[in-house]
Amino acid sequence: MQYLKDIITNATIAIKSVNSLVELDKVRIQYLGRKGELTCCFQNLSLLPPEKRADIAKTINKTKEKMIQIFNLRKAELKQIELLSTLNSEKIDITLPGKRINTGSIHPVTHTIERVECFFTKLGFDIESGPEIEDAFHNFDALNIKPMHPARTDQDTFFFNQNLMLRTHTSGAQIRIMENSQPPFRYIVPGRVYRNDYDKTHTPMFHQLEGILVNENINFLQLKGILNDFVYDFFKGEEKIELRFRPSYFPFTEPSAEIDIKNKNGEWLEILGCGMVHPNVFHSVGINSEKYSGFAFGIGIERLAMLAYGIHDLRSFFENDLRFLKQFK
Ligand code: PHE
Repeated sequence: MQYLKDIITNATIAIKSVNSLVELDKVRIQYLGRKGELTCCFQNLSLLPPEKRADIAKTINKTKEKMIQIFNLRKAELKQIELLSTLNSEKIDITLPGKRINTGSIHPVTHTIERVECFFTKLGFDIESGPEIEDAFHNFDALNIKPMHPARTDQDTFFFNQNLMLRTHTSGAQIRIMENSQPPFRYIVPGRVYRNDYDKTHTPMFHQLEGILVNENINFLQLKGILNDFVYDFFKGEEKIELRFRPSYFPFTEPSAEIDIKNKNGEWLEILGCGMVHPNVFHSVGINSEKYSGFAFGIGIERLAMLAYGIHDLRSFFENDLRFLKQFK
């Protein structure tokens, strides 16, 4: 009997001193497990004289019940404590400022292309594309650029071999369009072009947007009208801009012109070349130049972007400096 009393006393002390459910379970196994101290008491009953067994068994059972009660109480207590501590440690501080999501932005060159496309598609132009690796026929010959023309020399053109090169302008796409469609048609072709040039206003890769319109009775006045509207539309919202048509020369247009725009420092900056499609170009693609006429233009995208955003060094478009790019959000 004394032994049983000691067991319950010791167990109670042990139960009260544990601080976690895991420790509590260890104590439970120590007393009530299959080899536990109290369980052994039952097993040892057979060693007692038969007349004492019933009494002792009763006491062991009572002790066991009491012990289970104490266990369950402590278990409930510990559960509550653990719950509270989880609630505390996992508390969400809703006063913390949220994490900012960093979104990118459209590159100013892409944005400029989209704006130009938007203007011309409203006038019924379809958007086409052409290959960046171009052959001599489309980049030069069919455009009436004779073999000795300076644009052909290594100085300007990145050649792969005698016939293949990185296109030096998007005008090759004019030829591809005329080879594949019957007039009347009107297309624009935005894209990358490549020239061996590098300074404040030239990078080896830049963007052009070619335009070509062919129909009966197309004349220079219509070309001038459309491009004039385009420039004023593109720069609307800015203070009055100054623009000039300047006679120019391209082998594939006759007559030819360029449009210059005055920048903030009062300097003229060329933004596009244009002209009436040269009869030799029509001949090279089998379009009857007696019946049809057309105009073409090639817009320098970076030039427009420089003027629109007040950028002085063309190279900054392609250095991918985030401090530069973030300004266009
Ligand atoms: N391809 C010319 C250039 O690269 C621009 C141009 C296009 C001129 C179409 C006339 C007609 O400068």
